Amino acid sequence: MKYLTIKGEGLSQIGIGGADLGANPTNEIAAIRYGLTHGINVVDTAESYYGSERVIGAALRGIDRHQVFIISKFLPRHATPELEAASLKPSLEKLGTDYLDLYLLHWRANANLAVAVAGLERLRQEGLIRHWGVSNFDVIDMKELLKVPAGEHVFANEDLYNLTSRGVEYDLMPWQEKHQVGFLGYSPFHAVGWHYLRPTPVLKRIATAHHASPYQVMLAWITRHNNVVTLPKASSVTHVQDNITAMDLQLTPIELQKIDQEYPAPTRKVPLDKI
Ligand SMILES: NC(=O)c1ccc[n+]([C@@H]2O[C@H](COP(=O)([O-])OP(=O)(O)OC[C@H]3O[C@@H](n4cnc5c(N)ncnc54)[C@H](OP(=O)(O)O)[C@@H]3O)[C@@H](O)[C@H]2O)c1
Repeated sequence: MKYLTIKGEGLSQIGIGGADLGANPTNEIAAIRYGLTHGINVVDTAESYYGSERVIGAALRGIDRHQVFIISKFLPRHATPELEAASLKPSLEKLGTDYLDLYLLHWRANANLAVAVAGLERLRQEGLIRHWGVSNFDVIDMKELLKVPAGEHVFANEDLYNLTSRGVEYDLMPWQEKHQVGFLGYSPFHAVGWHYLRPTPVLKRIATAHHASPYQVMLAWITRHNNVVTLPKASSVTHVQDNITAMDLQLTPIELQKIDQEYPAPTRKVPLDKI
């Protein structure tokens, strides 16, 4: 497993994506528990992910709470001190914990950032969350966030990042690195219905050379610079095993070049990609 440090926290570069769990809780719980006992220490969920917080809560039972970095999110319409506290309560209850490691504003919409941050700071002072952050923010939003009182306490921004969504490399990732804001990358396989990333011949050839799968190559590529935590969702132990093993896969400069030819890096500002 590869780890990185964000504001003093040691996080595995692969986390557990927790969207839309609940279709097959037995397998999902086994998969999450396998991950958390084999080097993964990050798990990502949200109040809007239906039954996911409960499934994760069940998977966490018996696992040392202090070894897991739990992320959940609240909706922009709940971005006030009162509603953030009201959203957090059931999330904690479902997850079976009395604090979150990271609480994220799920997306910006028309949230008032100063008001949202005031509430998050209060939750932090009360010990109910250890850190707070945002999701689906672009550079312009991050700049605005840093201007509100205590905005500089933002721990991380969670955005879409995979081979077909590289726009963040142009300006957002360098900006976050400069301002020491962690980058969490979601949907490494762009897995929403028909958007699911299909392995191309180039990815297949690289995978074969490493005795790996094209999906492992995608994860190795995302984590190549040791500056991103990627959050694949996997509901089987086999997939979690594959995703963990992908962290041992080192792509060569020539392979990286071939991937760049097929999935070019941005050469100009592009609108933030979201799912
Ligand atoms: N902040 C946000 O706004 C936001 C938005 C979207 C997602 N997210 C986060 O990012 C996480 C991941 O995104 P996602 O759920 O959209 O999809 P994803 O992680 O890109 O893809 C998940 C799909 O990939 C499959 N998979 C997992 N490991 C695999 C492997 N080694 N080989 C082949 N297939 C594999 C899974 O199958 P199985 O389930 O059958 O294992 C599932 O169908 C979410 O769960 C959520 O935590 C955040």
